[in-house]
Amino acid sequence: MPHEDRIKELLGRMTTREKLGQLQQLSWAWDTGPGASAGTAQAETAAREGLLGSVLNVFGAASGNALQRIAVEESRLGIPLVFGLDVIHGYWTTFPIPLAQAAAFDPAVAEADGATSAREARSNGVHWTFSPMIDVTREPRWGRIAESFGEDPYLTARYAAAKICGYEGHDLGSPDRIAACAKHFAAYGGAEGGRDYNTVDVSEQRLRNTYLPPFQAAADAGVATFMASFNTVSGVPAHGNAHLLTGILKQQWDFGGVVVSDWAGVHELLVHGYAADAADAGRLALTSGVDMEMVSTSLAEHGEELLSAGHITQQRLDDAVARVLRLKFRLGLFDRPYVDEGAAVAAPTASARSAAREAAARCMVLLKNDAAALPLDLKASTIAVIGPFADSGDLLGAWVLPDAQRRFPSGTVVEALQAAAPQARIRHARGVEAEGDARDGIAEAVAAARAADAVVVVVGEPPALSGEAATRSGLGLPGAQEELIAAVAATGKPFTVVLVAGRPLTIGGWLDSAAAVVMAWHPGIEAGRAIADVLTGAVNPGGKLPVTFPRSAGQVPVYYNRENTGRPYDPAQPDVKYVSKYVDLADGPQFPFGHGLSYTTFATGEPQLSRDRIAASALRAGATVDVTVAVRNTGSRAGDEVVQLYVHDLVASIVQPVRRLRGFHRITLARGESTVVRFTLAAADLGFWTNDPTGEFVVEPGAVDVYAGTSSSAEGRSRLMIT
Ligand code: GLC
Repeated sequence: MPHEDRIKELLGRMTTREKLGQLQQLSWAWDTGPGASAGTAQAETAAREGLLGSVLNVFGAASGNALQRIAVEESRLGIPLVFGLDVIHGYWTTFPIPLAQAAAFDPAVAEADGATSAREARSNGVHWTFSPMIDVTREPRWGRIAESFGEDPYLTARYAAAKICGYEGHDLGSPDRIAACAKHFAAYGGAEGGRDYNTVDVSEQRLRNTYLPPFQAAADAGVATFMASFNTVSGVPAHGNAHLLTGILKQQWDFGGVVVSDWAGVHELLVHGYAADAADAGRLALTSGVDMEMVSTSLAEHGEELLSAGHITQQRLDDAVARVLRLKFRLGLFDRPYVDEGAAVAAPTASARSAAREAAARCMVLLKNDAAALPLDLKASTIAVIGPFADSGDLLGAWVLPDAQRRFPSGTVVEALQAAAPQARIRHARGVEAEGDARDGIAEAVAAARAADAVVVVVGEPPALSGEAATRSGLGLPGAQEELIAAVAATGKPFTVVLVAGRPLTIGGWLDSAAAVVMAWHPGIEAGRAIADVLTGAVNPGGKLPVTFPRSAGQVPVYYNRENTGRPYDPAQPDVKYVSKYVDLADGPQFPFGHGLSYTTFATGEPQLSRDRIAASALRAGATVDVTVAVRNTGSRAGDEVVQLYVHDLVASIVQPVRRLRGFHRITLARGESTVVRFTLAAADLGFWTNDPTGEFVVEPGAVDVYAGTSSSAEGRSRLMIT
């Protein structure tokens, strides 16, 4: 019998309380915040009474099966539970953080993470991950930038589709696939001050041109679920925002899956000052489009009275239940509710580790490399490896499963360099801790640097300073790490800095003193070996920045796809007073979006257009413009380049960004090799959303400059006239 018939048949047999139970998700292992569950006991009781739809944070196949057996074999209707877990960048095999993955400018990296994570998680009883997080953000102060794919809507959209494909494949019923969740809907990355959970106030056009494209890509990719975000959107909390959850997501995008609340997000409608009490919160959330309530119990407790009083409709209730049941049918849980405990993946496999190592190396960005300081000369007899992260296994990243953190820490840089250069003598000196003011180890670090032929300093921020609820007001290196760098610099020895972090950092204070800088992010389980691969040249770095590096936290937000303003700063006239600039800071970012060097060099030609004019009507009818860019490897060794395509609509009814990424290709060229990279520009690339709340996308006549190059500062330009 097709799912829809089985859903109808079940709905016909369910009581109102059982229907409301399907909309309840409780936590199993973690209890925090208002309306928190009482852990296992509450979940087991609700499951036995058939009043529970889902549980999150169930760890292990045996625990999942035990809880599932109660729901399936002891409740009246035997409806299986769906188990959710935050598998953000790995289950056992921790991949680089999502922000790092975006730096690869290669969505296949995210798909590999998704597929590996799905295989490991599903075998351990997880059906549903609360990932990918696809919040565009320009806020490096926000700890959750680590979970994001950075500041660009187009790049994030491509990664969203790839990650969902990795998790879900083509059949959610497969034993190696899990349901994905597009989160946090929406505009969470725009929180004022970069402070978690804070206010977001955006115009409709900025919402639709900046924050929504990745979510529409997720819906188009068939993502099974969405998660509402904690923040308000222009005064209305997302958990009670019918314009977002129903108007846009379920009506305009025709989304048929499940919208789950964030942790106690329904209850928080009271705290926002949007709901009068718990019953009102349940009413507002369900009516606006939330289908399942995570951890708080507003609907389970008040749904019956709301329904009998006519404050929620039978139709909406049945629609929400149908969505939940549909997810369970698609996952195959009615036919196969239990997982084979003997087949549970218990540890990272060699191939999974290899994929994580390759991914981590592809994510690294060579920010600076003066006088070809890198790759290291492995014939160097002594290599000093200095800094608090040189011998650290704490490089996995912001959101890692507790057991994975404990059992499978990242390999260290010291170990990996020693393995890569067995003939060299590795002198390790921590110098300082990752945090705190202790400086007594600096002398030893300086001595190690003086005695070495090559010097590597591994510094950054610990994962504990990254991720949710980890907003930083400053973006410098924590503790005394900058003093450590200064002391090493004072030796006069050339040195390389490897930065590990979950966000862009302000590095201008010491950047000039370092010969080379590699941004390694938090690279995951294979951190040490991947960093060594890049430092030794086994891998030629080809990553690019998916987020702007500011000069100062005071400069934030600073991003490439900005408006020109009426008084832009002109570097050719630096002394002009009345322009948009800081009087106490050089203009522009430390490093722009899309920046990244290589151990070789490339030459890219001007973008060649297949036509220099096209009618707006033709574009709207599906016509396209092809763009080709010639690229040559002009250096001494093979390497990767990311050719990027940007547009700038010079005159429009809504001011357009000075650059908008509309394409990228990561290519590998041998020494001296040339190629031609091809892009296609369609209406979706050249138009934009207006402020019309019903969703109006327009393509307007006028000149559009098309840029191609190797960062958002690309100069190669051709002009397209839309008539
Ligand atoms: C957290 C996060 C969300 C996560 C959920 C369940 O507060 O906001 O991203 O999926 O709770 O852990």
